Amino acid sequence: MLSLDAALDASSDAEDTPAGRDETSKESRRGALAKTLETVRARRETLARETSATRRAVEAAAADKAEGSDAVELPRAARLAALRDAAARKRKAPAEDGTRRIRVTRDARGDEQLELCGAPAEGASSVVMMAWERPYMEALVDALEVTPADTVLEIGYGLGFSCAAIQRRRPRRHVVVECDPGVRARIPDGADGVEVVAATWQAYLADANDNFPIHEFSAVFFDDFPIVATPSRGSRWRSFLEALVPHIAWAAPPRRVVGYCCDAERLRAALPDGYWLERATPFELTPPADCPYVSEAAGDRCFVVVIGFDPNGVYEPGA
Ligand SMILES: C[S@@+](CC[C@H](N)C(=O)[O-])C[C@H]1O[C@@H](n2cnc3c(N)ncnc32)[C@H](O)[C@@H]1O
Repeated sequence: MLSLDAALDASSDAEDTPAGRDETSKESRRGALAKTLETVRARRETLARETSATRRAVEAAAADKAEGSDAVELPRAARLAALRDAAARKRKAPAEDGTRRIRVTRDARGDEQLELCGAPAEGASSVVMMAWERPYMEALVDALEVTPADTVLEIGYGLGFSCAAIQRRRPRRHVVVECDPGVRARIPDGADGVEVVAATWQAYLADANDNFPIHEFSAVFFDDFPIVATPSRGSRWRSFLEALVPHIAWAAPPRRVVGYCCDAERLRAALPDGYWLERATPFELTPPADCPYVSEAAGDRCFVVVIGFDPNGVYEPGA
């Protein structure tokens, strides 16, 4: 998770400028959507071409074999190579909507971990979260100071650490938005008070109306990682907080947001209008030696960040 975050943040640096904010305009979103559709269409065409090449190679091999031809070795080798290529592509290919899938596996100690599906690049690992992150997740929930009066929005179930910690505080409502079907299936059936939403946060938060906000969250926990292919509009944090405004603006105080953060200053710079960083406390991480995703360069700490929000003067319903 850390390395993916760092990669995403690095790639979005250039857009963390006031000019980047203008991209929220309808037109640029339409442009980005058209670009995404074009990429999907091109990928489909390539796959169709390659599939038909594979089919031709298989048919040629079958014909050679049927004729008892001496030349059968060459098409067979070509066929195997084509099949191997296709299998490798399939492993790497994201789902149709551009979203990567996740699976839960176990580490050397038998603890659960999250892995991205598909073959990782050579020498890389696909593990994105391990059990040692639990204390950090729980510290974030502590910082959210959930009370039974709160309506909590949580993004990303993952290994369920933050969800369980939020539940222990018995909020009035607790909505968990999780886009991965495999991860969702692991949320305990009828988990007390947890409402599970099968969607990306991008889709879920877009489902609002300026005049009649349908969700009013007083406390928000944000911890996804970039498996959803969306046109970048600056940092993920900024995109999320912008989309959150109509869902938090009418909530009762404290209107607080916490979440995974490995660079508090970058987060501060990415905050949209109306949000401010109440605090950012370094939290020492203690990854085991076999953790593949915390590089030395990324450092050995994250931050417990608490973001405040004040709706006054920043969000005008129906504007
Ligand atoms: C790091 S894990 C969450 C860890 C969790 N806080 C815990 O304590 O175990 C990230 C989760 O976010 C989900 N996710 C990633 N992108 C998402 C998106 N755009 N919308 C909803 N869920 C998303 C992933 O499927 C994954 O389950």
